[in-house]
Order: sequence, then C-alpha cells, then structure tokens
Amino acid sequence: MSLRAVELIARKRDGGALTATEIAELIAGYTRGDVPDYQMAAFAMAVLFRGMDDRETAALLDAMQHSGDVVSWDHLDRPTADKHSTGGVGDKVSIPLAPAVAACGVAVPMISGRGLGHTGGTLDKLESIPGFDVRLGLDAFARITGEVGTCLIGQTDRICPADRKLYALRDVTATIESIPLIVASILSKKLAEGAGSLVLDIKVGSGAFMKTRADALRLAEAMTRAAHAAGRNCTAMLTAMDRPTGTHIGNALEIAESIEVLRGRGPLDTRELVVRMGGEMLRLAGVAADLPAGERRVAQALDDGSALDRFARLVRAQNGDGRVCDDPWSVLPRAPIVQPLYATASGNVLALDALQVGLAAVRLGAGRDKASDNVDPAVGFVLQLRPGDLVHAGDVLALVHGRDAARTERALAELGAAYTIGDGTASGLPLWLDVVH
Ligand code: URA
Repeated sequence: MSLRAVELIARKRDGGALTATEIAELIAGYTRGDVPDYQMAAFAMAVLFRGMDDRETAALLDAMQHSGDVVSWDHLDRPTADKHSTGGVGDKVSIPLAPAVAACGVAVPMISGRGLGHTGGTLDKLESIPGFDVRLGLDAFARITGEVGTCLIGQTDRICPADRKLYALRDVTATIESIPLIVASILSKKLAEGAGSLVLDIKVGSGAFMKTRADALRLAEAMTRAAHAAGRNCTAMLTAMDRPTGTHIGNALEIAESIEVLRGRGPLDTRELVVRMGGEMLRLAGVAADLPAGERRVAQALDDGSALDRFARLVRAQNGDGRVCDDPWSVLPRAPIVQPLYATASGNVLALDALQVGLAAVRLGAGRDKASDNVDPAVGFVLQLRPGDLVHAGDVLALVHGRDAARTERALAELGAAYTIGDGTASGLPLWLDVVH
C-alpha cells in the first residue's frame, strides 16, 4: 500500500479526485498501520488545500465509520436520535437534553468527548458527579440505553479507530481546518454509534470552532449533505457562541446548572437550546408532527419532573451518586475559594467574550491545554450579569470558584477583561442564526 499511497497523495496534491475504493484502501491501510503517519499527514494536507467533492467525502466518511464497530439499535422498541455540538464555553446542553428527549420516547445513545483548549467536554462534566462512569464498554452502553433510554459514554477503541489516529495526527500537522476532514471525523463517530436521527449544533463566534457565520454555514451544509447521503435524518442549527451559554462555567458548576434546567428552571438560553434541539430530535425521529409540537413535549418533560427522573436513573445506571439530583451540592465537589468579581464601571454589559472566558477557565484549572492534562472538577465561574444586563459600579459581575489564591486572583483579572461595559446596547449574535435541513 505504501507505494500506492504516494500515487494517491500526488493525485490529491495535483487537484485530482480519488475513487471510493482508493479512499477505502487508504483508510484501511492507515488503520492497520501499513500506511505510516507521515504519508497520512501529507494526504491530509493535500485534502486541506484541494478539498474533496461530495462523493469523495461520502467515501471517506464510510471508510472511517466502518474502520471499527458499528452499533445497531434495531432491537429497541423506540426510535433513536443524537445531538452533536461543535463545542463552546458553558455548553452543557447535552446533559439535560439527553434525559429530556429520552423521557419523550426517543432513545439517546450518546458518545461524547472531553474538553480541549477553551471548550469544555460533556464527559468531564459528568465525571464531576462522584462515581459517574463514562468508561463503559459497548455492551453496557447498549444495555443502559435500552433500560433508561439514554447513556453517555466516552469514545471506545472499537468505534472509529481510523478517526482516533487521524484526528490526533491532524491536531499536530495543522490540518484540522478542512471541511471534508471535519465532516468525516465528526459524522463517522456519530454514524457508527447508530442513532437514526441527528441534530448538529454548529456554534458560531469567538468561543466556537467556526468563528464566522459564513464558515459555520459551509460546515453545516457539508455535514447535512453527507449525513443525508448516508441515509440519516439530520438538521444542523447554527447557534451563538460569542458569549458563554448559560450562567455556569466549569465542570461541577455546569452539572448544577443542568439540574436546574431539568427542574424546569435555569437560564433561559440554556433551556431554549434544550427545548428547541430536543424538539427537533423528536420531529426527526417521527415522534412529534412538527418542531413546535416537539418543543412543547420537551418543555413539558422539563417542567413535570420526568426529564429529571430520567437523569436520576441515568446517573444511578452509570454508578454515579443519585443524590446529585435532589441536592446537587451535597455531593458535587466545591472549590475552597469563592471570590466576587466587582464591576468598576456603570452602564450596560455590552459583551462577554466567550473565548476569553474559556481560556480563563482553563487557566483556573477547569479545562485542559493538552489531552493528557487533568481537570479540576470544582473550579469555574458563575456569571451574575451577562450581555444585555444593566450594571452599576460595585455590582457583582460574577463569582470565581478557585482552588488557590494565586490562580483565583489571575482568573478575576482575566474574567474582568472579558467583560465590555459601556453605554449603548449589547450587539451580540442572535441565539439562533440559521437552520440547515
Ligand atoms: N471534532 C472532531 O471530532 N473532529 C474534527 O475534525 C473536528 C472537531
């Protein structure tokens, strides 16, 4: 394969197209270790510059999806759906969403990721619940999804091994930013996990992977085309990530906010994201006639306690301490230091930069710079005032939950710098920017 790989790399470098068989051979050879990293890196760079047409992207997606196990849910008595977010700051939506949708009769088998850089990860948040185990094998994943209606685990070696290798390689060869490679990477994992319908949350703004609406739209269109070609129902929603989602940032803190949302309360933006994306999952899965009907059912599950009840069953099934649902702070880890950040000027909160908040949270210990770093589950921020709010000098803008005095002080300064306060009105992105069916 090695010699032939040279030919395929050269053809892509020169702007030619590869056949589905050639792409399948390349990915299979790479997964086996016959195609070395240096050749795959050259291929990824050629794709980054030359792109791939829809047929090649579909072939790459198919080859990556079938590089490991593909889960089937045919035996379940309910349809299945999943949601994927490109990630952001304070984005805890999956945690209330999965049990809320499960409570409405659609199973949600979800394989999630960890935080990296300024974006948080669902698995790190769930692991802040004492005992919660995200390292379950596919058998337990299938059993719990059947019994509870949802299960949230981490990537296993058996799902998309080609993506595991290629994503790590892209990370260190400046080849992440290629739309066909992103589409194949994200969708291969989601399709291998087997859900029949998929809602994609493509974040836009400083704290997102896609900084502009135009880039996010290009990704959304490529993702939905590829998912449809693979036979899945799929909707992509573009949502704002120029400021953090909700009020709580940090692992245990985001669990506390998620439980508030599951109690029918919580910040309106987090609730709205859960209700609309959940509603769309119900519509795609054929359980709701249209989006408003789906939204009403999800809102009801949040308000009548059935979503919280599902979450309690999920926590117990994954060996977590179920008391987190009744009294979160009786079991969640608390930071030893809580310091207020005071406003130094009066006016309106005009902006709160998501990227700066995310980076400050990482430096405080809530996230990781590299995959091998540990996260501190207790630390983070609670925002008291957000864009659009009126502020007087001396008001508390936010609370910083820190582990030690030096890092807490630095986080106070960094979070303070992320706020823009002045005259006029906040001019952030609308929460909902676009929908691509
Ligand atoms: N997340 C992924 O899993 N893959 C990508 O290529 C980009 C983001």
